[in-house]
Amino acid sequence: MVSKQEVLAALAQVKSPDGAPLPQTGKLSDVVVSDGKVFFSITVDAALVPQWEPVRKAAEAAVRAVPGVTSAMVALTGERAAGAARAAPPPRSAQGGHAQAPRGERPVQGPPGVGAIVAVASGKGGVGKSTTAINLALGLRDVGLKVGVLDADIYGPSVPKLLAIRGRPETLGGNRLRPMTGYGLTVMSIGFLVAEETPMIWRGPMVMSALTQMLREVEWGTLDVMIVDMPPGTGDAQLTMAQQVPLAGAVIVSTPQDLALIDARRGVEMFKRVNVPVLGIIENMSYFVCPKCGERHDIFGHGGAHKEAEKLGVPFLGEVPLHMAIRETSDAGRPVVATDPDGPHAKVYREIAGRVRDALQSKGAGSAAPKIVIEA
Ligand SMILES: Nc1ncnc2c1ncn2[C@@H]1O[C@H](COP(=O)(O)OP(=O)(O)OP(=O)(O)O)[C@@H](O)[C@H]1O
Ligand SMILES: [Mg+2]
Repeated sequence: MVSKQEVLAALAQVKSPDGAPLPQTGKLSDVVVSDGKVFFSITVDAALVPQWEPVRKAAEAAVRAVPGVTSAMVALTGERAAGAARAAPPPRSAQGGHAQAPRGERPVQGPPGVGAIVAVASGKGGVGKSTTAINLALGLRDVGLKVGVLDADIYGPSVPKLLAIRGRPETLGGNRLRPMTGYGLTVMSIGFLVAEETPMIWRGPMVMSALTQMLREVEWGTLDVMIVDMPPGTGDAQLTMAQQVPLAGAVIVSTPQDLALIDARRGVEMFKRVNVPVLGIIENMSYFVCPKCGERHDIFGHGGAHKEAEKLGVPFLGEVPLHMAIRETSDAGRPVVATDPDGPHAKVYREIAGRVRDALQSKGAGSAAPKIVIEA
């Protein structure tokens, strides 16, 4: 087992730009060591980031060289001095945001071969966002697109489990990683790099840095669409993500209950504020089909999301029933669209995927808008 002390000892050999041993610079976050995987961040003044990038690389290399370390991920974060100008939108202190969002950074560029990046978000947790994201991704695959999934839920990555993908991404030389694959999807999640039981003590800026790395340092290849499973809520981490990742659009997942809808509204507003088009709302756990009698029960007061979408002026993308088969397949890493492609649920997700594709096409987003050429 690798200890934190061993990692810190290795890091003491790495020097800051002014020659100080890295652990003594006060720039290191807590070092998380779990199951041979190491993660920490270096936070420096935004203006000094270029100078520190070689230090980050050296730190990563030093940690990887420690016997027993199977992977290392070092995030370099630029913090702007207080009072410095920050990009729109304004701080959300009035709305009780938690972690402080990284400020003033340029939007992160999307991977070069990726057509459209689509966030799947919700105002609150547990509404079935990840389940929807995965099945939507598979639906998009089924309508003929090449699809990637980026698990942006740094605090609670669930994509590895939902797709039953185990193992670690291969390093391709330098810092680049080969994404994982499952059910024909190209996939990256922090869950592949950090053990499940690792305490997620990450600070806001680290989150962004990890996302940046997963976007830029992963060989995504050519994709029509990248589905991003967002962390739940509309706090600063989500806002930053919405602001800094070049999103072609966002899909909001909501349950029919009123409370969730209030949250959904917040989600819609967040994306509107950062000028990300909301492609529509999906109502999840919309109705319940009795497995015995086959009768449909609108247990949550069905239809709320549809009406709410109209009120908000965003498209309604469809309703997914509350069904044991969706839950069981999802939790077992055998998503229903892939494992029961001819069943009713797969059909629902494919229809939604078709609408998402059409919405992207009408927005002219990247290669998700393939021109269909009929050769004579
Ligand atoms: N339509 C559905 N029918 C039945 N169960 C569902 C449905 N959608 C999601 N679930 C189940 O609900 C639970 C929560 O779903 P999921 O993890 O996708 O939610 P989430 O919004 O991503 O949660 P978090 O906020 O924690 O990221 C899971 O057990 C999942 O299998
Ligand atoms: Mg989730």
